[in-house]
Amino acid sequence: MVEFQQVCMAYKEKEVLNNVDLTIQDGEFFVLIGSSGCGKTTLLKSINKLLPVQQGTLKINGTPVSQIKVNQLPNLVGYVVQAGGLFPHLTVEENIALVMKVAQYPKEQIHDRVTAMLKMVNLDPALYRNQYPSQLSGGQQQRVGVARAFAVDPPIVLMDEPFSALDPMTRSELQNEIHALQKKTGKTIIFVTHDMDEAIKLADRICIIQSGHIVQCDTPENILKHPANQYVSTFIGENRLWSNPGYIRAADIMRLRPKTVNRGRTVLQALQMMRQGGVDSLLMVDEKEHLLGVVWLTELMEERDGSAPVEDYLSDDYVAVEEDTTLQEIIANIDYDAAGIIPVVDRQRILRGFLTKSSLLATMSRQFVPEQREGERSGVICATH
Ligand SMILES: Nc1ncnc2c1ncn2[C@@H]1O[C@H](COP(=O)(O)OP(=O)(O)O)[C@@H](O)[C@H]1O
Ligand SMILES: [Mg+2]
Repeated sequence: MVEFQQVCMAYKEKEVLNNVDLTIQDGEFFVLIGSSGCGKTTLLKSINKLLPVQQGTLKINGTPVSQIKVNQLPNLVGYVVQAGGLFPHLTVEENIALVMKVAQYPKEQIHDRVTAMLKMVNLDPALYRNQYPSQLSGGQQQRVGVARAFAVDPPIVLMDEPFSALDPMTRSELQNEIHALQKKTGKTIIFVTHDMDEAIKLADRICIIQSGHIVQCDTPENILKHPANQYVSTFIGENRLWSNPGYIRAADIMRLRPKTVNRGRTVLQALQMMRQGGVDSLLMVDEKEHLLGVVWLTELMEERDGSAPVEDYLSDDYVAVEEDTTLQEIIANIDYDAAGIIPVVDRQRILRGFLTKSSLLATMSRQFVPEQREGERSGVICATH
């Protein structure tokens, strides 16, 4: 666990971190994000004692960092910087071994450990261990940087914009790998980025910093849905939530007050209600608003006796979703050929709202098309040739 209590940092007169209170739990993938110069690197460097904490307390697993000896630190905290931060005059193996020696890793085990670490980051040890950083691509250098940080198996790994100098493909590949590696090893990763897409993709929690202050620290989902202030909203960007369907839930997009019918009604009454409501289905509920099923217009129209109970036409041929079902799950599971309404219920099956295929389509299209403002709707859609 890493705990900041009222931590302040300054360069000469210039205050850079202002009363930071923050607890990072064991095993968390914790992402720090904010614009350039907001204090992210300063915060990271205070954790591995590259910068001394000037005011307040910073503890690692309950011990103030000021009491942790510098030579004990590599066993506790690994560090990955942009472009790997490798020493250019040392080979891949020497780069990794150097950190291990500082951490007093048993000498006779270093060779085998380097082999294991290179394999872990998908570099062939035989091919790469004796190469120099300049012989490697940016992505490969970064892999060595990760191997080096994990070499002595520290429980905490700090990563300062590790992938920002890489091309998009390599970057995405390394993001996937570090995510998998973190889940597999259960390490605490404190990862700095200025890229919101990267943060959303990786983080268990995102911490947004603005001029040395923490403005919001929460799960990606909560930050996307409830940005704390205008800075966060701007940072997230307008359509970000809509391009992450895993974070949109039925309750966020459902329409309210579906047309309902009670058991006691007749077919004629139900038909009348449909006509008035302009709908082709009614949701049947009991006295406590529990969903019983759907009544479809097409089936009622076959009945000649209008006084027959509508309950006889109750259909269980429909799919209901729960309020917290994600858009992704809804899209994956609904039957696009089947008819219209998708009731939304809570855990007790109480009816809360409904979705239709057109409301789903409208929601999905928002991730491709910026939202239109009032009065912008005119125009002709043409096929392009
Ligand atoms: N060694 C330094 N001396 C003076 N000012 C510095 C020094 N390092 C960083 N700063 C200033 O502190 C602020 C925060 O820097 P930093 O933590 O590196 O930000 P970030 O990593 O978020 O871009 C910036 O305004 C930066 O210019
Ligand atoms: Mg920085």
